[in-house]
Amino acid sequence: MLPDDLKNSLVEHINRVDHPRELAVDVMFSIQDYYGYLTDEGVEETAQLLKMSPLEVEQLATFYTFIYREPVGKYIIHVCDSVVCWMDGYESIKDYLCKTLKIQDGETTPDGLFSLLPVCCVGYCDRAPAMLINKKVYGNLTPDKIDDILKKLRQDA
Ligand code: FES
Repeated sequence: MLPDDLKNSLVEHINRVDHPRELAVDVMFSIQDYYGYLTDEGVEETAQLLKMSPLEVEQLATFYTFIYREPVGKYIIHVCDSVVCWMDGYESIKDYLCKTLKIQDGETTPDGLFSLLPVCCVGYCDRAPAMLINKKVYGNLTPDKIDDILKKLRQDA
């Protein structure tokens, strides 16, 4: 259940707009931040707050790449699978990440640190292949560079 302060601040925000559903993504992000992902309870709460049906919220949630309907790791690695990255080594980068993390696309490491998910172009086409980890973009990826990035993230965890 959402804490009162979060719920009240969302209600306050929603009351300031003419069409509450325009805040659907913001509300889903806030609720996702609280739970760690958009839980079933979070879908219900979003629907109640915005006076939408849970199905409408579900449809929106599954449309957006950065709304997670299942638990995700502390670091969410989105590997770009759009055309330029495809041409510049996406597959080998993704395979390397799978091998190194010992997970497949869509999975999370058992220690809860890393999830691996696809994403469309992240705007680093001139530095392909690229990936996004949480809000940071990394380009010109190589296995060595990935090793360095993962090592640093593990140290920071
Ligand atoms: S195609 Fe991968 S960053 Fe643009």
